[in-house]
Amino acid sequence: MENSATIAVIGAGTMGNGIAHVFARTGHPVLLADVSDAALQTGLATIRKNLAREVAKGKLTAAEADSAVARITCTTEMDSLAAAVLAVEAASERFDIKAQIFRKLDAILGPDAIIASNTSSISITKLAALTKRPGQVIGMHFFNPVPVMKLVEIIRGLQTTQGTFDTVRALSESLGKIPVEVNDAAGFVSNRVLMPLINEACYAVMEGVATAEAVDTIFREGMAHPMGPLTLADFIGLDICLDIMRVLVDGLGDPKYRPCPLLIRMVDAGWLGRKSGKGFYVYPA
Ligand code: 3HC
Repeated sequence: MENSATIAVIGAGTMGNGIAHVFARTGHPVLLADVSDAALQTGLATIRKNLAREVAKGKLTAAEADSAVARITCTTEMDSLAAAVLAVEAASERFDIKAQIFRKLDAILGPDAIIASNTSSISITKLAALTKRPGQVIGMHFFNPVPVMKLVEIIRGLQTTQGTFDTVRALSESLGKIPVEVNDAAGFVSNRVLMPLINEACYAVMEGVATAEAVDTIFREGMAHPMGPLTLADFIGLDICLDIMRVLVDGLGDPKYRPCPLLIRMVDAGWLGRKSGKGFYVYPA
């Protein structure tokens, strides 16, 4: 896929704006869609701020950052995405919302276009089955912060063709990312392994084995993790962590994936981590 190929990104939230950022930085015209102008403007402001970090670090010139922003066209109309050769859906992690977007994309995109989902846990095979192009549906799971993290977990649905896989793998490499192939199973590999770690860290705190600070220090200083599991949970969002645990327990059917009651209570309280100002730690506004 050429660097001039138009990419649609659906969802201007944390993941969507990061995905738009990396495509635009690599030279792709990007159509960034969301349901409201306010969401698009917030997403674009985040992209500007994160590009400015890269300029400050000397990774990008100011002119290159300006050109990247100029390549992004914001829209609230799904019909405006018709020219895209690849659409990356990064909407809320709810099957009904994603299903509606997939049906719409299938109706408006050209017959050769690929539809990818940045889902962290929803079945690619199930999303693909909603379209008339299941061979051209694939998972492209990016990691937060998207401009920094190298990994793209590429998920093959049951019907994903080798051609679709090869195109998406090569495209990910052209973005400077490291693609890793996995098959479609609940949580794929990243969240199947990461979320039980976070969940177990919650149990350790709930049972009074150690404080959150102690758990995190153990992983930072003993295992060289850049963030301890509870700092990372706050960074990801405790609601997202809980949703993924529920996908794991439903999808894999093993009670070892049951979500920690402390995690459930914190989400019930609205303590969602960084985005709400409080999680395992407090984040002053
Ligand atoms: N955009 C662009 N650059 C960014 C950025 C952003 N959003 N955020 C940070 N950076 C850059 C900084 O400018 C800095 O650049 P430099 O290396 O050239 O100096 C570099 O990233 C490191 O940032 P900081 O110095 O500000 O801070 P830290 O050294 O503390 O690193 C971190 C921050 C990169 C977030 C690091 O703490 C980290 O790697 N944490 C773990 C993140 C992680 O595990 N992510 C995966 C979450 S799971 C997920 O996303 C999947 C989902 O399905 C749940």
